[in-house]
Amino acid sequence: MANLGILGRSVLRKSNESVRLTIIIFIGMIFGFLLGISFSSVTITKLRIPSSIFSYITDKNSVIYNHQWTTVRSQNKDSSFLKPSEASKIHVPTNPRGAERLPPGIVSSESDFFLRRLWGEPSEDLLKKQKYLITFTVGYDQRYNIDAAVKKFSDNFTILLFHYDGRVSEWDEFEWSKHAIHVSARKQTKWWFAKRFLHPDIVAPYEYIFIWDEDLGLDHFNAEEYIRLVKKHGLEISQPGLEPNNGLTWKMTERRPDREVHKETVDKPGWCKDPHSPPCAGFVEIMATVFSRGAWRCAWHMIQNDLVHGWGLDFALGKCVEPPHEKIGVVDAQWIIHQVVPSLGNQGQAENGKAPWEGVRERCKKEWTMFQDRMEAAEAAYEEKSWTASRSSAQS
Ligand SMILES: *[C@@H]1O[C@H](CO)[C@@H](O)[C@H](O)[C@H]1NC(C)=O
Repeated sequence: MANLGILGRSVLRKSNESVRLTIIIFIGMIFGFLLGISFSSVTITKLRIPSSIFSYITDKNSVIYNHQWTTVRSQNKDSSFLKPSEASKIHVPTNPRGAERLPPGIVSSESDFFLRRLWGEPSEDLLKKQKYLITFTVGYDQRYNIDAAVKKFSDNFTILLFHYDGRVSEWDEFEWSKHAIHVSARKQTKWWFAKRFLHPDIVAPYEYIFIWDEDLGLDHFNAEEYIRLVKKHGLEISQPGLEPNNGLTWKMTERRPDREVHKETVDKPGWCKDPHSPPCAGFVEIMATVFSRGAWRCAWHMIQNDLVHGWGLDFALGKCVEPPHEKIGVVDAQWIIHQVVPSLGNQGQAENGKAPWEGVRERCKKEWTMFQDRMEAAEAAYEEKSWTASRSSAQS
C-alpha cells in the first residue's frame, strides 16, 4: 500500500513537472525575445543569459535539462564600468584560501555526510540532520560486534564505516548498513582514514565526533547518555571508562565504578611529570576517542600524513584544549570493554624472520618517536621565532 502511494504521488509530480517545464520554456522564450530587441539600448558591460535556455534530453525514465550559460558582452566599447582584470578580483579576507575570487555569498566552505535524494526539492531532502558522528574502522570479521555496537547509537548519529579489508557490500545484511556511509581502502588505519575523510570542514555539522576501533564491547554503553555526561562535565575530548582486563594499558582510562566521570589519576611513580600531565591527567587513549567539534578541528591538524597508527597522539591531545586537565576525561558511568581482537595489527608483512605483527608494532613505536621529535622541533622553532620577533620589535 505504502509503495502504491509513493508511485501515485511520483506520477502526479511528474506531470506537474512537465507543466512547469513548459511554462518555464515559454517565459524563457519571451524573455529572450524582449532582451534581443532591447539589447542595443542596454549599457551594462556584462550580462549573463542562457544561450540555449533549455536543451533537454528525454529518455524512457528521465528528463535531464541542461542550462548552458554564456557570457555576453555589450557592444558598447567605451564602457568603463569594470575592466575585466578588476572584475575578476574580489578582495574579501574572510574567503577561504583559493576562493578569493568568489563573492562570499556563494562560498560554502563546509559540508556534511547527510544523504540526499536524486529528485524533488533540495530543501526538502533532509528530514533529519544528525547531530553526532560515529565512525568505526572495520573488517568484515567483526561485523556482529559492530552490529551490536551500532545499536547503542540513536538515530541522532550519522554512521560512517571505514573498511580496511575491501569487503563493503556484504555489510548490507544489516538494515542500518544501507543508510550508513562506507569508505573503503585496503589495509589502512583509523588515523589514515580520519585524516583523509574527516576534514573539520566536512564534519562541521556534528557537535561530537566518535572515532572508534572495532573491538569494543558496548553492553554497558549508551551514546545519548554518554553525550549528556560529556556536556555536563565540560569534556572536549573523552572516552568511556575501560573495564580492567588485559586490554588495559593506562591507569587513567580504567573505569571507576563510583563516579560519573574522572579527569585525573595516580599512575606508577615517575610516569607523570606532574599530577596534571599525561598519562595522569589531560589524557585519553586513541581507541575510543570522542572529540567535540572544536577539539577535532585542532586534533585533525596534528595528524601527520605519514603517521598512520596514531601512537603518541594521545599524549599531545592536551595541546588542543585549555586547560587539558579539565577538558579531557573518562566517562565512568558509560563504560566499555576493550576486547583486544587482533585485526590490522596482524596484517603486516613477515620480514627478516619477524612475524607480521612484530613489524607493525615496530612501526607504531617508530611513529611515536617521530611524532614526538616533530612536536619538539616545531615548538622549539616557534619559540625561537617569537623570541627573535620580540627582540627586534624591542630594538626598533
Ligand atoms: C535525539 O536528540 C533530541 C534532541 O536533543 C532528543 O530530544 C532525542 O531524545 C534524541 N533521540 C534519542 C533516541 O535519544
